[in-house]
Amino acid sequence: MADVRRRRGFPASANDKGLAAPAASPPTPRYTATLIFGSVCLAAYIALFARHARDLDAELCRSIAISFCMSVGAFFAVIRLVPVVARYVLKRNMFGYDINKKGSPAGSIQVPESLGIVTGFVFVVVTILFQIFCFSPDSAWLLEYNAALTSILFMILLGFVDDVLDIPWRVKLLLPSFAALPLLMAYAGHTTIVIPKPLRAYLEMEVLDLGVLYKVYMGLLAVFCTNAVNILAGVNGLEVGQTLVISSAILIHNMMQIVSSSDADYQQAHAFSIYLTQPLVGASLGLLCYNWYPSSVFVGDTYTYFAGMTMAVAGILGHFSETLLLFFLPQIINFVYSIPQLFKWVPCPRHRLPSFEPKTGLLTGSKDMNLVNLFLRWFGRCTERQLCIRLLIFQGLCSGFCFLLRFLMAGWYK
Ligand code: UD1
Ligand code: MG
Repeated sequence: MADVRRRRGFPASANDKGLAAPAASPPTPRYTATLIFGSVCLAAYIALFARHARDLDAELCRSIAISFCMSVGAFFAVIRLVPVVARYVLKRNMFGYDINKKGSPAGSIQVPESLGIVTGFVFVVVTILFQIFCFSPDSAWLLEYNAALTSILFMILLGFVDDVLDIPWRVKLLLPSFAALPLLMAYAGHTTIVIPKPLRAYLEMEVLDLGVLYKVYMGLLAVFCTNAVNILAGVNGLEVGQTLVISSAILIHNMMQIVSSSDADYQQAHAFSIYLTQPLVGASLGLLCYNWYPSSVFVGDTYTYFAGMTMAVAGILGHFSETLLLFFLPQIINFVYSIPQLFKWVPCPRHRLPSFEPKTGLLTGSKDMNLVNLFLRWFGRCTERQLCIRLLIFQGLCSGFCFLLRFLMAGWYK
């Protein structure tokens, strides 16, 4: 396999001059940041579940608890597997250089790439095995659940292919629409979207039946969610961090809907979304132990596509895709702001990242149009770790805003 770094268009470095660039020392998990991050994100969800567990249907409660335990298992499996797989990917020359450390000793270390493959693999095994505990063979959910898993699996494959082949940007944008096909073909649920209350008077309808167009809408949502995570990236811990914040918001939303409803079908749809999101959180927290600043592994497009697709599927099958889009507010802002470069109206370099000053260790925003650079221009120069934390706090605030909006406009959608 050719040198991935060269295909990624990196400038000449020690390696190109015949000098061996040092490989990263074997990744070892660092738990502190992960534990703080995990507890901040999951506290409300776990508290909500613990408080209402007694009022919930026993079967539903058991399923959620089993899925939770399996997700804890996923966390430890990822921690165990990442160093093993990192060795193998390095052997095949799949590594990247940390661009935000360019010019410092850390910037010339070969960091193993595409470790999202471990997260994806563990996630798929856990969600497949989960069926043993929670579905009878004739369960109506089985078809959609497995179609969802097929779509996620297809996305992991295409993400890994992209990491290996470095597919051109325009083709890359479309990959998720192929991965979404298994779900679109199997989907037999409703095809309506609920009109928010303030708009009903103007449109003179409560729900809009999109018919076949609903499947187009689902496909577009998958394309958006996957690419949205992938282009808000390039800062240590940001890809995994944003996934964890959004997933935690999804979990809280699902739990709130389950405890506030007595309709079994409605509860089941949200529980279904929980069965996909809990293992995503568990496996991603494992990856964060290695990917938090300073990253000892990179997650690759395998992870960004996998995470985006899983969240899209969780929103579609939980029937809350409109709310899901609200959780993606920073990604929407980043996407809209990026449009001139994505469509090449403005020149778009291979990497749209800030510039690093080795002397001070600070990042300065470049002219490239994305949220990462915008934050640096607005809030001033800072370290990579601070930048990631600022962006994640913004992500958390947006989720909070979304809940507030739903609370203030109680019954906005109902
Ligand atoms: C997308 C972005 C690109 C950004 C890149 C970073 C668009 C159109 N594309 O491209 O601007 O630079 O993601 O992931 O917005 N890397 C780091 N630090 C990190 C993570 C990644 O330096 O914390 C670098 C590494 O060299 C790694 C490479 O980014 O090898 C991965 O880039 P890749 O995911 O292939 O880029 P794209 O998804 O194509
Ligand atoms: Mg990427």
